[in-house]
Amino acid sequence: MTAAEIEHVIELAGLAPSLHNSQPWRFRVLPHVIELHYDPSHRLPATDPSERELRLACGAALFNLRLALEGAGVRPVVTLLPHLAEPTVLAEIRSGGRAEPRPERLRLRDAIPKRHSHRAPFRDIPVPAADRNQMLHAAQAEQCWLHLITPGEVGPLEGLVHRAHRVQEASPRFRAEMAAWTGRPADVWEGVPASAAGPKPGPQDQWVHRDFSAGTAARPEGLEYESHPLLAVLCSHREGQEAELQAGQAAQHVWLTATDRGLSASMISEVIEVPDTRDELRQMLGGTLHPQALLRIGYGGGAAVPAPRRAVDDLILDDDT
Ligand SMILES: Cc1cc2nc3c(=O)[nH]c(=O)nc-3n(C[C@H](O)[C@H](O)[C@H](O)COP(=O)(O)O)c2cc1C
Repeated sequence: MTAAEIEHVIELAGLAPSLHNSQPWRFRVLPHVIELHYDPSHRLPATDPSERELRLACGAALFNLRLALEGAGVRPVVTLLPHLAEPTVLAEIRSGGRAEPRPERLRLRDAIPKRHSHRAPFRDIPVPAADRNQMLHAAQAEQCWLHLITPGEVGPLEGLVHRAHRVQEASPRFRAEMAAWTGRPADVWEGVPASAAGPKPGPQDQWVHRDFSAGTAARPEGLEYESHPLLAVLCSHREGQEAELQAGQAAQHVWLTATDRGLSASMISEVIEVPDTRDELRQMLGGTLHPQALLRIGYGGGAAVPAPRRAVDDLILDDDT
């Protein structure tokens, strides 16, 4: 691959979602391998003390990287958590030879720049069964499971999300971290700017509580959230770092599948970040799966605003770094 092709692959990887847009990934490009590193300076210790969500984000970046390589005609062979590597290496990606990209993979690759967190209300239109099935298959293709919340589970889940939000809002460390990663000036390439924050959540809102508006956005009068979003819990079958990297790839496969089919999504993570509510959610789903991400999916009314990204140069580790 040419230097420009490799740069484009890294750029697409860097368009993955990450908690508070922290973009905790970096890449070392060697002659026969690309290493995916996590960036220790981009951790969020108050919200994500175990770095589970950091690995989800890096897994999502890895999925983008795989699609980008496939799009360039290279079959990626991935080793998660390779032995004998530096402690920051989460994956190694080697070439398994050249292969013609499949059309459905090119469509997912093309969905990468179109995917944004859509925190504004959706239109009240149900998600068709064919789209739900495609998203279930996307999770399974990455050795994970997507549980679609049933009508009977909506009430209990809503209670858990509210409780988790209250727990986090009562923590000065959580609030300080949120404040540090929101409301940044437009020329800062990390964090969630007010332009991408969505409307300021109100007490009447059912699902969207996390406030990225940093006090800047006045909520338009009469703006109401949809009454029945599709809610989907992305679960891994096992626990641990490898399972979290798989879950990140699965979440991104699901989200890009949704994007390709004209759907929008946002994440609602508090219920999974707070250990007690995550445990209750796990029991609610039968006690065997491990919840990793909660997605709200539907038809967005209007385009979501892209969040900024670090420059590609900033994402590439030099040999002497
Ligand atoms: C592990 C993880 C957790 C996230 N949790 C939330 C959340 O609770 N609420 C939310 O609105 N966005 C959440 N996000 C979305 C990020 O804020 C978003 O990906 C980031 O700001 C970049 O914006 P983009 O998704 O539009 O590219 C999460 C993303 C990841 C990967």
